[in-house]
Amino acid sequence: MSVIPFLSLREQTAALREEVLQGLASVIDSQGFANGPAVAKFEKELATFLGVSDAVAVNTGTTSLHAALLCAGVSPGDDVLTVSHTWISTSWAITYAGAKPVFVDIDPTTCGMDPKLVERALTPKTKAILPVHLYGQPVDLDPILEIAKARKIPVIEDCAQSLGAKYKGRQTGSLGLVNATSFYPGKNLGAFGEGGALMTSDAGIAARARRLRDHAQEGRHNHVEIGFNWRMDGFQGAVLSVKLPHLDKWNARRREIAAIYRAGLSDQKGLTLLGEHAWSTPIWHIFPVFHAKRDDFRARLEAKGVQSGVHYPRPIHLQPAYASLGYKSGSLPESEKAATTEISLPMFPELSDESAHKVVQAVRDVCAELA
Ligand SMILES: Cc1ncc(COP(=O)(O)O)c(C=O)c1O
Repeated sequence: MSVIPFLSLREQTAALREEVLQGLASVIDSQGFANGPAVAKFEKELATFLGVSDAVAVNTGTTSLHAALLCAGVSPGDDVLTVSHTWISTSWAITYAGAKPVFVDIDPTTCGMDPKLVERALTPKTKAILPVHLYGQPVDLDPILEIAKARKIPVIEDCAQSLGAKYKGRQTGSLGLVNATSFYPGKNLGAFGEGGALMTSDAGIAARARRLRDHAQEGRHNHVEIGFNWRMDGFQGAVLSVKLPHLDKWNARRREIAAIYRAGLSDQKGLTLLGEHAWSTPIWHIFPVFHAKRDDFRARLEAKGVQSGVHYPRPIHLQPAYASLGYKSGSLPESEKAATTEISLPMFPELSDESAHKVVQAVRDVCAELA
C-alpha cells in the first residue's frame, strides 16, 4: 500500500535543485557566508512581496519574534497578550524579552486570538499584543489593531505559518508595527536549514533590528547596546531567493487542495473543519480537522495509508515550563479543545488531486467507523 505523507519536500526540492545549486555557488564565489549579498537580496525581495519597507533576515523564526518584541519596546516586567494554542516559540520569545505571556483564548473559527476577549485580558502592564496566524488562517486583526491603537501599544503578527495569506486583501506580516516569520524547512517558504525574518515599515525599527542581529554594532567594533549573533547564513538567503517567486503559486495550490478537502468532508458527522471568512484568504499551511476521538482517528487513518500530524497536542499554558504562570486545565477552553481534538491532514503543494481525493475517502471511512 502506498502511503500519503503528511508532508514531503522531495518533489519541490528536486524541481529547484539546479537553480538552488547555482545560488549556493554564487554565495561561495562571493564569500558572503554570514549575511552578505544573497541575504540582502532576499530581504529586498521579501519586503517587496509583503509591501513593507524592510525585511530583516535572522537565523530562526524564534529569533525574529524575540527581535520584534525588543524592537517594539517590550522590556522586563511587561505583559504581552498572545495565544496558548501555537508553537511554543511565540511564548519563548516573550519570555526571552523578559516579559510575561498573558494568554487569550482562541476563536474556534480561525484558531487564532479571539478579538472579543482581548479588551478584558489587558492589564496595566500590557505593552504589546502578539496574535498568531496559525495554520495560515488570518486572525480577525482589525478589532485587535483598534484596541491596541486606543491603548497606544503595538501589535506584532506571528506569520510563521501565514506567508502570503491575506486579511481583507492585505498581506499578513504587513499589518502590525513589526512582524515575524520563520523559514524552518517545513514552512510554506522553507529554507534548507534554519531561518527567520522580521518585517516592518518603521525605519527606526529596521535599523535597530539590523544592529541587534550583528552584535549591536553601529560601525565596526562600536557596540551601542547588548547585541546578539542572529545573522542568517548566506546559503539560506540564496535558497529563499530561488523559492520566493514560487510562493504565490504554491499557496494557490494549497487552496485548491483545501477546497477538495472541504468539499469532501464538510458533511461528516463528528468532524469539524475551519471555514474561510469573507475577509480572509488563508494559505492552509496546515489543514486541521477536529474529532473527539483523535488518537483512534489517526491510527485508523494511518492504517488506510494516510499520515497525519498534530498541531499542537498540549497548549502552552499547560506546559511544565510555564507552570509558574498559574494557569489550570479549563483556563482557556477553546485552546484546550483544539489541542485535544486537532488532526492535520496531508498538505503540501505537490500533493496530487488523486492523493487529496484518497485522503477524503479515507477520512470519510474513518468517520463512518467511529460514528
Ligand atoms: C507559529 C510559529 N511561531 C514561531 C515559530 C518559530 O520558528 P522557528 O522554528 O524558525 O524558530 C514557528 C515555527 O516553528 C511557528 O510555527
